[in-house]
Amino acid sequence: MKNVIVTGASRGFGHAIARRMLDKGYRVYGLSRTVPADLVDEAEFRYVPVDLSQTRMASAVLSDYFLREQRVSDVAYLFLNAGMFGDRVMRVSDIAMDEMKQIVDLNVWANKLLLDLFLRGGVPIATCVASASMAGVRARAGNGGYAISKATLNMMLKLYALEHPATFFAVLGLCSLNTRLFDHTLYPPADPNQFPDIAVLQKRAQLPGYLTTPEQRAQDVDQVLNGPLREQLVSGEFVDMRSLLASAAASVTVAA
Ligand SMILES: NC(=O)c1ccc[n+]([C@@H]2O[C@H](COP(=O)([O-])OP(=O)(O)OC[C@H]3O[C@@H](n4cnc5c(N)ncnc54)[C@H](OP(=O)(O)O)[C@@H]3O)[C@@H](O)[C@H]2O)c1
Repeated sequence: MKNVIVTGASRGFGHAIARRMLDKGYRVYGLSRTVPADLVDEAEFRYVPVDLSQTRMASAVLSDYFLREQRVSDVAYLFLNAGMFGDRVMRVSDIAMDEMKQIVDLNVWANKLLLDLFLRGGVPIATCVASASMAGVRARAGNGGYAISKATLNMMLKLYALEHPATFFAVLGLCSLNTRLFDHTLYPPADPNQFPDIAVLQKRAQLPGYLTTPEQRAQDVDQVLNGPLREQLVSGEFVDMRSLLASAAASVTVAA
């Protein structure tokens, strides 16, 4: 049985990709604070309750669980997905230091923790997929700790890719999903003078079809990882899913 690990499996993209990988016949370990009620009864689903923002505690719990209790000896896919935006859109200078640290602990250091647990433990990871974001590439006033954490994540995974060539690092910008996390960007309405790009994004998100469901994105990601688009990925290099899918659609149109 091939192992898949998904952080943030209780809802959103993590839940959708966990379901998809179960349907494809993998054993899926889902990590989150809330139980994914509809997955726990699946024969090959293993729920791992953990607060990944508490990195010291999580490190002890997860290394005990994966290496000693479950004796996981290889990982087919590691989805580094759990994440938080923060309370709401605000200026970096208005974010409390404790909140900033919590965001970075979850969005960055929890991922280092999991990678190190397996890489140092001699457990090969074939493919690591990171739920990355354009927020880490393009600066938009108001994206605060989220943007800083996602930019850090991108650089961290570039370094891992260089230093661990046996693992393929797919760093995928998931792009505007209809999830609880994205709601923190959409509500309350942003002041267009203070946060002009976010105000535009909030308007755009109201257009029909702008937001993608997590289930659709899980299908897209599966296709990218297992289809011809995989050749366009470079290990450790950020790419956003919307551009990737658009380039594929354009090449189909040209060919037709
Ligand atoms: N939505 C978008 O448009 C978008 C775009 C680009 C990238 N992304 C990235 O995609 C990832 C998933 O986002 P989503 O939109 O699917 O968000 P979501 O629906 O809010 O899901 C977030 C997941 O992370 C888990 N999580 C949050 N805090 C945690 C903690 N302290 N410990 C363990 N798990 C925790 C949540 O589980 P519990 O609350 O049960 O712990 C939940 O399963 C994030 O990394 C996000 O940055 C999203």
